[in-house]
Amino acid sequence: MRKKDELLQKKGELLQKKGDLLQKKDEFLKEHNIVTPGLAIFKEEAHTPKQKLNKHSIPSDVAYRLIRDEMLNDGNARQNLATFCQTYMEPEAEKLMSEFFSVNAIDKSEYPQMAELESRCVNILGKLWGGKGNDAAGTSTVGSSEACMLGGLAMKFRWEEQAKSAGIDVRAGKPNLVISSAYQVCWEKFCVYWDVELRTVPVSAENMTLNMDTVMSYVDDYTIGIVGIMGVTYTGKFDDVEKLDELVEKYNKKAKVKTCIHVDAASGGMIVPFTDPGLKWDFRLKNVHSINTSGHKYGLVYPGVGWILWKEKAYLPKKLTFEVNYLGGAEHTTALNFSRSGSQIIGQYYVFLRYGAEGLKLIHQHTLKVAQYIAKEIKKYGIFDIYNDGSEIPIVCYKLKDPEKQHWTLYELSDRLAMRGWQVPSYNLPENMEDVLVHRMVIRADFSATLADSLLHDFKVAVDYLDAHTKVAAAGKNKIGAQGFTH
Ligand SMILES: Cc1ncc(COP(=O)(O)O)c(C=O)c1O
Repeated sequence: MRKKDELLQKKGELLQKKGDLLQKKDEFLKEHNIVTPGLAIFKEEAHTPKQKLNKHSIPSDVAYRLIRDEMLNDGNARQNLATFCQTYMEPEAEKLMSEFFSVNAIDKSEYPQMAELESRCVNILGKLWGGKGNDAAGTSTVGSSEACMLGGLAMKFRWEEQAKSAGIDVRAGKPNLVISSAYQVCWEKFCVYWDVELRTVPVSAENMTLNMDTVMSYVDDYTIGIVGIMGVTYTGKFDDVEKLDELVEKYNKKAKVKTCIHVDAASGGMIVPFTDPGLKWDFRLKNVHSINTSGHKYGLVYPGVGWILWKEKAYLPKKLTFEVNYLGGAEHTTALNFSRSGSQIIGQYYVFLRYGAEGLKLIHQHTLKVAQYIAKEIKKYGIFDIYNDGSEIPIVCYKLKDPEKQHWTLYELSDRLAMRGWQVPSYNLPENMEDVLVHRMVIRADFSATLADSLLHDFKVAVDYLDAHTKVAAAGKNKIGAQGFTH
């Protein structure tokens, strides 16, 4: 009985405290003229700081509301067809990930289980990419960009070692990296940051991926490696990595300094093993030494997580891994970054555990089907040339068949679609095809056939509108940066 009284008294005290706090909050709101945060009536001073900190604190719900409101005009991620990045995760995954925001993945001695999950993900990816046993070495990264930096650095260090032992004066020339001109900007960054020549093989209308007829003519004793792209950013097309491997094999038979392949599978690496397991582009090929992918693309995790794997530990130069004596234990780190939340690793492991091989196959096959359906419907207009119809990767890419004759451009079509919330980017293709303006739609796992129907409905409304209201031929308006719309 006494215990019950004590508990009741404690409860009373707590309620009193709560009442005091609410009163304090009320006083604060009154004092700062924040009368009705729900209706967003705030005193001027409580505007969000633009240049320097505001003097006063504000209550958490007001801060929440102010920032939430400021974000209103940003696009709706689910309707953003410009991004490869994951825009939906299951509530359980979100809950789990949010429970690990506070865990720093780099503190491996404090969080050994996090390190264990990361290495399980590496093992799983190694197997998916045709690795043998647990030979592959690798790490998680913030995304493919960091992974590509690491892949590039490993190639550079290995090239230097090999070139020196072949008697090449490594200071006499600048090391180079061979890649198609349709590379993603991270490779340009890699080359600028680490003083490597970016040697690009131009794409053309006939050959929109790495040109197998010419690629080897770009390779010499100073080549640190060749990058094959599985999922060219602009069009979603795949480089023929199997053919490239054959060419490299032939080259290496006579070369003073052997070369190798890194596969930038930012988008394809998490989808092809399920949708086209027979396609050889990975560690099954002799000269593919390393592969990167973005866990936050078709790895189905929110941004940012990426992965880089080397086929065998031998391809990961010792120079790239550092031993740090940190927080009471020796830790090995290969990444460029140090501290980072463990949530994304948890998210990646959740995806692997939750869906398994069958689930991932089902999800990706479904996404492909939706992409193919959209491409088929867009083709029916007869005014678009389809560059990618979603048959290999769920990307729909097209251009206007005859932009000079069309009375409107893809820019205008993007604008009309944006009015319904759809973000479909218009952009020019890379070097050598700059004159070609395309649309690229990235279809993701959360894009249902019903959403596809909504998109196609709005697409039709937009095209009909443009046909009816544009009077002047759009000749020339597809050139870089040109915009124009005649109502
Ligand atoms: C081929 C390719 N490589 C690298 C990247 C960079 O990936 P992340 O955004 O994960 O850094 C991208 C992004 O779209 C890409 O398409």
